[in-house]
Amino acid sequence: MLALLTDLAYLMTALWESARLRGVIRRWSELRYRTSGGIYANHIARTKDYGAPLREALRALPAHPHRILDVSTGTGYAAQVAMSMFPEARSYACDLSTSMLSAARVNLSRTALICCDSAHLPFRNGAFDLVLLQNAPPPLRELARVTAPGGWVILGFSAAGRLPAWLPEKVVRRLATYGLHSARWIRTGRGLYILGRLDVLEDAA
Ligand SMILES: C[S@@+](CC[C@H](N)C(=O)[O-])C[C@H]1O[C@@H](n2cnc3c(N)ncnc32)[C@H](O)[C@@H]1O
Repeated sequence: MLALLTDLAYLMTALWESARLRGVIRRWSELRYRTSGGIYANHIARTKDYGAPLREALRALPAHPHRILDVSTGTGYAAQVAMSMFPEARSYACDLSTSMLSAARVNLSRTALICCDSAHLPFRNGAFDLVLLQNAPPPLRELARVTAPGGWVILGFSAAGRLPAWLPEKVVRRLATYGLHSARWIRTGRGLYILGRLDVLEDAA
């Protein structure tokens, strides 16, 4: 139940995009994840199908990405899954919490780790052809900004499968306003994923 409510809150922040709400959730995350790297790793291990939506979304990609960013990586779970599927890619992962990043360092040997707020990613426009975010607040505009034209954004939520359809539908429509007109959402297992490709000029023509 708590995981469902947390996913609900994360998806709502994607829609409201209010600096104040984002500040509150960021402060809550700072407190919640200040010292929880090891605890969170146990939570992942105990949660059935934790990465099922993410894995299904990654399998739906039509091509191998070369530059991957995992935003709000926590202990590095999503980056680890992506790197196991695309071992040739260069990968980056970021998070606010240094405790989570310490746990990620153990799990991710070939990934550059960066401590930052996901609302202000320290990357140039279009730097990645795959941007992942799982079980965290998604700053949609910023995720779209760092995605290359023709690149992909995946949002995965492990427990959001029972949320009403209007919520992921609205997120999909919001992604379209940032240039991901092909975005779609799929329920899978206990969760859901949203997958979108950033338009290239020919798409718009
Ligand atoms: C529930 S954990 C999920 C971690 C990981 N993505 C996974 O699926 O296992 C949420 C993570 O989001 C991070 N986070 C929350 N708000 C953030 C923000 N504004 N910027 C960067 N990281 C943030 C937290 O520090 C925490 O590590």
